[in-house]
Amino acid sequence: MAMLSSRRILSTVAHHQGLAALSARASSTWSHVEMGAPDPILGVTEAFKRDNNSKKMNLGVGAYRDDSGKPFVLSSVRKAEAQIAAKKLDKEYLPIGGLADFNKACAALALGDNSEVIKSGRYITVQTISGTGSLRVGANFLQRFYKSSREVYLPKPSWGNHTPIFRDAGLEIKSYRYYDPKTCGFDAAGALEDISKTPEQAIILFHACAHNPTGVDPKPDQWKELAAIIKQRNLFPFFDMAYQGFASGDADRDAWALRYFIDQGINLVLSQSYAKNMGLYGERVGGFTVVCSDSDEAKRVESQLKILIRPMYSNPPLNGARIAATIMNTAELRTEWLEEVKGMANRIISMREQLVSNLKKEGSIHNWQHIIDQIGMFCYTGLKPEQVERLTKEFSIYMTKDGRISVAGITSANVGYLAHGIHKVSK
Ligand code: LMR
Repeated sequence: MAMLSSRRILSTVAHHQGLAALSARASSTWSHVEMGAPDPILGVTEAFKRDNNSKKMNLGVGAYRDDSGKPFVLSSVRKAEAQIAAKKLDKEYLPIGGLADFNKACAALALGDNSEVIKSGRYITVQTISGTGSLRVGANFLQRFYKSSREVYLPKPSWGNHTPIFRDAGLEIKSYRYYDPKTCGFDAAGALEDISKTPEQAIILFHACAHNPTGVDPKPDQWKELAAIIKQRNLFPFFDMAYQGFASGDADRDAWALRYFIDQGINLVLSQSYAKNMGLYGERVGGFTVVCSDSDEAKRVESQLKILIRPMYSNPPLNGARIAATIMNTAELRTEWLEEVKGMANRIISMREQLVSNLKKEGSIHNWQHIIDQIGMFCYTGLKPEQVERLTKEFSIYMTKDGRISVAGITSANVGYLAHGIHKVSK
């Protein structure tokens, strides 16, 4: 009897506590805030970190690793840091548009040293908080000043963050066909058809090189056709160049499409990131460029970019921009850096080849040629979400749900394990 009543008392207390918690929740200011989904890319890293399996692999986020799987700080970056430290520079605020020496070098890296646009001063580049910050500044600028359209057409698929960036800036998201799962290649006919059917003056987003997530780029002739449609239909191209140097190992070659569009008289906007090609991930270094019709227009655009940026974050961070500017503006460091970019691109190519040869060794009968043919940091494996889930659950191999792997996360030591896992879930 006594037992029962004390149990009843306990359950009544628990009931009251539960009610109290509920009513506290209901009366709280943020009670209506629902649990959000983890980020589709960065959430993978969070899950990876919680895993205790010593064989675990993180092929989610696009971040370069050396062949021992360690984050890689470029030697040119270390040398630039030493030069900067020796100067004992101050830590004053940068101007709203960022470090002038960086902005100049950043535009020249993308547009080319002999660019007519640069010589005539008909452009403005502002330093931004890496590629994401650049895209967001660009999206907000278009939202405020590009009155001809509210629609941004993204390739299907595109980098997961493109949609929220443009949507949160108040633009409407549309898409054009880009990747053909049947060929694991670029759907040129689909892209051209869709782009030719968009309303005139719509904004079209292009990945300048090393398309994320597919690793599939248009060929030069296909870029020419795309440029012709853009011009003919008065569409507005937004180039996102987050991987300059990573596609071919050569920064100039990777900027070919962008420069071709400009040579055709197309006044585009451009986002750049130094996260991958200088390994400056956490330093947040990027640039946003508007190609204008003359230098006077460029000055007016600059004034408005400053008005846009000031209430967002006042001015950009100093350290990374100093590093990038020192590298790009010091001949020996620049040469060393471009060699290091080539080295990173080559290690990725070698991992692609080793993965395919290990899949063959495992006895896989599938055609994995696309792993070799795709370029840049990512491979769009074609693995289905259930297979991805099995790889994670059974092998502790982490990747985004769409089957994208960051090839830069594979090493000579774990490529066999990866091939084994892929074979097991795909046979
Ligand atoms: C990626 O696609 O993994 C990278 O661009 C990193 C990121 O911020 O998503």
